[in-house]
Amino acid sequence: MLLPTLDWHPQPRLEPLHLDWLARAGVEVAVLRLDRIDPLISGNKWFKLVHYLRAAHEAGAEGVMSLGGAYSNHLHALAAAGKRFGFPTAGLLRGHPQDTPTVRDLEALGMELHWLGYGGYRERHAACFWGPWQVRYPHLHPVPEGGSGLPGAQGCMTWAASVREQLAALGWTDYHGWWLACGTGTSLAGLVLAEAGERPVYGALAVPPDHGVAQQVERIVAEAGHCKPRYELLDGSRGGFARVDAELTDFIETTTAIELEPLYTGKALMLLKAHVEAEAFAPGTRLVFVHTGGLQGRRGFE
Ligand SMILES: Cc1ncc(COP(=O)(O)O)c(C=O)c1O
Repeated sequence: MLLPTLDWHPQPRLEPLHLDWLARAGVEVAVLRLDRIDPLISGNKWFKLVHYLRAAHEAGAEGVMSLGGAYSNHLHALAAAGKRFGFPTAGLLRGHPQDTPTVRDLEALGMELHWLGYGGYRERHAACFWGPWQVRYPHLHPVPEGGSGLPGAQGCMTWAASVREQLAALGWTDYHGWWLACGTGTSLAGLVLAEAGERPVYGALAVPPDHGVAQQVERIVAEAGHCKPRYELLDGSRGGFARVDAELTDFIETTTAIELEPLYTGKALMLLKAHVEAEAFAPGTRLVFVHTGGLQGRRGFE
């Protein structure tokens, strides 16, 4: 049953972030706490899924199937939503069977898992990929890896309204831009569409710059018919996706004001610090940092 799912409208809180390096530069940051909308359905994932779930409901499906790795935040949130709202889920996993905390959660949350190997997983963009899975699971609607694409981005557009509603409570009359981690660029594209050129969106790339994020953002923005996107992609990957170095670990451990993980949010905030310290933002600048979640994935690094 997908209908009860569509009635859930989580409202992420906007909270001030107090850090010495921000204070020294006179830059103010508020964090949109997507990580706190729910203990299990955490981060940007729900928002990227919601339009796919609506499409699944409209197509008469009972549940959904999607793809991800053995630490996937996307599959984790999807499995948790299935358990919470009572719809069936199946997960197609990259590689060979692995026993990770995330995989154990997926099983406990009732997701049916299939390991595709590496070659099988690489086929996921092929036109015929979903055919056999739709035969096997005719009642499940396919959702692309990570909830990427325009429907995913459209679900993230609501963050702009959430922020505007909470500005006064922070004592802010306005804000000057957004800062967030990018994996596929879908979340960033949602904010670019929501801002419609009014304020810039800065994306800290969690993957190397040659991974096609810029093209993906351009594709989504063009598909939405928007022609004046205002955003900047900055390399926050520190040499590769999931590459974790001592400086990053130390930054996360010493930034006790907010819980971060090393793949996305830790790297994004660390890159913001470098930009603030390089005086990229004038004193008085007010930024919204989107906490995109991912804290469950930390267990792979502990
Ligand atoms: C915790 C976290 N933050 C950020 C992202 C990046 O989101 P997007 O793929 O929409 O750029 C992801 C997933 O890709 C994620 O799991």
